[in-house]
Amino acid sequence: MIDEPLVLGIETSCDETGIGIVRGTTLLADAVASSVEQHARFGGVVPEVASRAHLEAMVPTVARALETAGVTLADLDAVAVTAGPGLQGALLVGVAAAKAYALALDVPLYGVNHLAAHVAVDVLEHGPLPEPCVVLLVSGGHSSLLLVDDVTHPLDPLGATVDDAAGEAFDKVARLLGLGFPGGPAVDRLATQGDREAIAFPRSMARDASYDVSFSGLKTAVARWVEAKQAAGEPVPVADVCASFQEAVVDVLTAKAVRACRERGVGSLLLGGGVAANRRLRELAGQRCAAAGIFLRAPRPGLCTDNGAMVAALGSRLVAARVAPSSLDLPADSAMDVRDVVCR
Ligand code: KG4
Ligand code: ZN
Repeated sequence: MIDEPLVLGIETSCDETGIGIVRGTTLLADAVASSVEQHARFGGVVPEVASRAHLEAMVPTVARALETAGVTLADLDAVAVTAGPGLQGALLVGVAAAKAYALALDVPLYGVNHLAAHVAVDVLEHGPLPEPCVVLLVSGGHSSLLLVDDVTHPLDPLGATVDDAAGEAFDKVARLLGLGFPGGPAVDRLATQGDREAIAFPRSMARDASYDVSFSGLKTAVARWVEAKQAAGEPVPVADVCASFQEAVVDVLTAKAVRACRERGVGSLLLGGGVAANRRLRELAGQRCAAAGIFLRAPRPGLCTDNGAMVAALGSRLVAARVAPSSLDLPADSAMDVRDVVCR
């Protein structure tokens, strides 16, 4: 059981109720119930609405995952849940459910870090992670460059955004262009019809020596550019704005990630988080890694955005590495540090 544990993963840090079931590194089920439509008219996730939706979706989504996997609750060897970071009320629903399942089934409970789970998910698709690897983790709440030796050990942060997360910038730019929420997928789609060199948006912090990034100035530059067009009574070339904005984001992210690999002498780069679903980010990372002789790994887009399989994948690795489980007093920690893989 230790090497190929059957693990239930519960993810409720934001607006997706994700339930995954993994045996060892084999994905058996990945059921997601999203409340995104309930948030769309507010232009962002409303925490109370998300918490209630998790509560309603939890039991049916677990049932759906069990059915897909062809297993029963009694077969489970462990339960893993996102303990943080994320929305406190939303996390609490998942943590409470995980405690109930673990207690009732008398199996170990692992309260895990959402960011480490975004890293671990790639084992389901591409097998054991290269050790070490640099991870570019880009989502709606985080943009980090991490040095990862072993995903069950503390992750080493190399740099992060100093203001907005990459996904947040996508969502804000989409909002000002009237593209709805979440904006990343819409910008990604429209950008395929635009010219990425049409507008020279700024690349903040591109040339400094740190591994930090900044997207707040870029977002403001896009807003000013669009306002100027509108004030002049000219049509806004939305596809060109999307393509040029997206290029500015992925240019800086991929340049810093490749530099981190080179300067740290690391031969592998892993992409993770919702923004890692972005077509141009994957393409440019592929080109720059190939040119630098770096091996690139990225989970398929459906495993980049939030899901329960990533939590189950990390839980499975923790069981296999014989890491001590969390206690049943496990808190939800909305500000959980990126270095902590398991919450006690
Ligand atoms: O990892 P994730 O599902 O949730 C968080 O942990 O935040 O990431 C969600 C973020 C949103 O900001 C969304 O707009 C962005 O990922 N996103 C994308 C794409 N798909 C999702 N951004 C750019 N291109 C995409 N294809
Ligand atoms: Zn996430």
